[in-house]
Amino acid sequence: MTQNSQVTYLKDYQVPDFIIETTDLDIRVGDEYTSVVARLKVRRNPASSEPSSELILQGGKGIKLQDVMMDGLILDESNYDLNGSELAIHQCPEAFELTTECLIQPQLNASLEGLYKSGGMYCTQCEAEGFRNITYYLDRPDALSVFTTRISAPKASYPILLANGNPVDQGDLENGEHYAVWHDPFPKPAYLFAMVAGDLVRQDDQFTTQSGRKVDLQIFVEAHNSHKCDHALASLKRSMLWDEQNYGREYDLDLFMIVAVDDFNMGAMENKGLNIFNSDCVLADPATSSDAMFERIEGIVAHEYFHNWSGNRVTCRDWFQLSLKEGFTVYRDAQYTADTYSAAVKRIDDVTVLRTHQFAEDASPMAHPIRPASYIEINNFYSVTVYEKGAEVVGMIHTLLGDDLFRKGSDLYFDRHDGQAVTTDDFVAAMSDASGINLDQFKYWYSQAGTPTLAVTDHYNAINNEYSLTVVQSTPATAECEVKLPFHLPLRVALLDTKGKELPLQLQGSEPVLGNNCVLNITQAQQTFIFEGIAEQPTPSLLRGFSAPVKLDYAYTEEQLLFLASKDQDGFCRWEACQRLLIEATERAMGFMSQASHYQLKDSLVTMLRTSLVDETLDPAMVAKLVQLPSEAYLAETQTIVDVDLIHTAREAIRLAIATALESELLYCYQRCHDTGVFSQTGKAIGQRALKNICLYYLNALDQALYQTMAQDQYALQANMTDVGAALHILIGHKNSELAAPLLADFYQRWQGDAQVVCQWFAMQCGASRPGLLGQVKALLDHNAFDIRNPNKVRSVVGSFIRSAINFHAVDGSGYAFVGDMILKLDGFNPMIAAGLAKPLGRFKRKTKDRQQLMVSQLQRLNQAELSKDVFEVVSKALSAS
Ligand code: PHE
Ligand code: ZN
Repeated sequence: MTQNSQVTYLKDYQVPDFIIETTDLDIRVGDEYTSVVARLKVRRNPASSEPSSELILQGGKGIKLQDVMMDGLILDESNYDLNGSELAIHQCPEAFELTTECLIQPQLNASLEGLYKSGGMYCTQCEAEGFRNITYYLDRPDALSVFTTRISAPKASYPILLANGNPVDQGDLENGEHYAVWHDPFPKPAYLFAMVAGDLVRQDDQFTTQSGRKVDLQIFVEAHNSHKCDHALASLKRSMLWDEQNYGREYDLDLFMIVAVDDFNMGAMENKGLNIFNSDCVLADPATSSDAMFERIEGIVAHEYFHNWSGNRVTCRDWFQLSLKEGFTVYRDAQYTADTYSAAVKRIDDVTVLRTHQFAEDASPMAHPIRPASYIEINNFYSVTVYEKGAEVVGMIHTLLGDDLFRKGSDLYFDRHDGQAVTTDDFVAAMSDASGINLDQFKYWYSQAGTPTLAVTDHYNAINNEYSLTVVQSTPATAECEVKLPFHLPLRVALLDTKGKELPLQLQGSEPVLGNNCVLNITQAQQTFIFEGIAEQPTPSLLRGFSAPVKLDYAYTEEQLLFLASKDQDGFCRWEACQRLLIEATERAMGFMSQASHYQLKDSLVTMLRTSLVDETLDPAMVAKLVQLPSEAYLAETQTIVDVDLIHTAREAIRLAIATALESELLYCYQRCHDTGVFSQTGKAIGQRALKNICLYYLNALDQALYQTMAQDQYALQANMTDVGAALHILIGHKNSELAAPLLADFYQRWQGDAQVVCQWFAMQCGASRPGLLGQVKALLDHNAFDIRNPNKVRSVVGSFIRSAINFHAVDGSGYAFVGDMILKLDGFNPMIAAGLAKPLGRFKRKTKDRQQLMVSQLQRLNQAELSKDVFEVVSKALSAS
């Protein structure tokens, strides 16, 4: 067993042997060393059965222990052991005060976990196990403590000193230093600790809670970003109100702070009262941010704010319970976005992410249940499965319980567990206790990985007016479990008559009326539902709203899909019918590829797309979804053998065929949606931009000077970042790469001073869907705006390159080798980012044989190196599946 292969198991969980009632930190920021004095009030945990009186604290590699004191007496080395990552204090009494002094060097910390420097500011990231890089501690989420934090630093360079909770004291010291003391009255685990020291400007606002308390809202940013805070502040206030109205949750401190930092491994972090955000996930203004970025920022601000209850007031017992806070909070922010903007469009976006990325993870060597049973490195489990599938699981509980009982369940959960560190079982128990609905079988969603398939067949009996649906569920084996027990899931269905009207539903052998949009409880491997009084052969609208994270396998005829694509009232199902038709067309094109240039679309599909394009009564955002081609990545998910080149070529063929057949409609639609008036961010304006840019994308498949000029003009207009970005994206993807070159140069020239926009510039070029990109991508690594220590830049260049499937999967293996090189470079200082890039290399299973071999040999090469736990886990799991 190497150090790297140590596995932590859920089944080994034990309560902590000690409780840290209060934690007093004295952090003195210094150029060379930062000193951290931690004074902990400790007592034995009465709930622990451990007989030994040894207190074991965790500590990271970079900390230098100076002193240990117990109840004011300095301990010598016979009283404690220091072995690398653990400090063991022998013979502890029932209750005592333990004081440690450590030295750390945040300016050298490039892992961005613990205390580190981003630009000129000090900041922290402690989830999941970063606090141990600051001081020796019981660094586990079930150790809750009341924190008081004193920070001191040179005043000129670090005028702003922040920590969790409320400010209680501040003042000047000798030698140009100053200090601030913060106290957080709410007990919290160390992963929610945060502090910041920097030269920042502040934007203020206020919110009055439902009970009439005034809360100060503050966003801290570097001075040059002060004009980019409005959107986040407005989003924050909307979220605060929404959580009161929808979950009865009020904010609990007098102050809520957000700090923007440029170097951050993830999107943002919900530290109590002091959220820290990746700059890219909080700063926005119309000149520099697209509509999509505005929406994303609003969702993330809401997400972090909602964590104050789902995560902070009620936290996780151990890291296996991560989805307790993340799945629930993603679900809450999705509801918020759906309520605030278009519910159907939000649902379509979320389902797209889930099916493209989570289904892929479920089919990969890193597959895991939303509550994993084991891990080597917890950082690898901040995954689409824990987050997005976790949210789907909460959504299914909502669907099974209905609105009122779901709210009763969440109220009970928050009441019952306020101030506690709990498990997903506790969450489900609250939902079940409040509703009286048994969720025992439902819990398999927490313990079994894999994407179930629902095979649905139907039969209409015209003689007795009965219509039956038979549902068979099956889930493929995943690494952690071969045989799966049947899931309990809600299947939302409607039956449509020939006019598209939803028929009233009456199930044989159950309550008389079900309404006309009902939820079937699927609990068995095979089940048949018989609907009575159905006077004509209906068209089934299945899995409405995507009511469960499954693959639906029903043999829809083309007529049925065309019918649903124009008549289904359920936005998701309507879109899904269009997608199925487009996928089917792409698959036919793949079969035709040898004579692809002669590929013809079916008239029925053209008619369907035309009908949507010319219907000016429809929400333009919805039309944009209806006519949009499935991405190459989603198409790959639908194939048994993934040939990325074939998918790319076939998709381009469909794009061209649609543009050819609908040229005048696309042009008309573009012109009708091309708003040259004052910039507006209403839902309608946003939808029109989305639709217009899809039209422009199609039209540019035609390779005509007119449409290239339209894109160039749209760029030249510089109306807003959505239009500018779309025009550039289209021209970058063009066969003639010369077209984009002058605009890319112009774009950089304009925005080189704005790191956020420079990242977009990198991403557009490195993620283009055009073969032969690697040389250019490598050249960009040498660009002076690139910085390998900045995760946003790495994501923009390397992450985008991986998303360009035809380049990452180039048959000569050059894409894999490049990513392998980058992983090795990054792993030396930021394992979390390195491991994120390694995951795609493990997804070789359904690729063509030649590529499988190349991917595996790249993994083998990585495996020879000295790896972090993070990358080791990803690589070793992938190799054992090869
Ligand atoms: N807890 C953060 C969120 O989802 C994510 C995060 C995890 C941030 C680990 C940083 C490090 O809101
Ligand atoms: Zn979260």
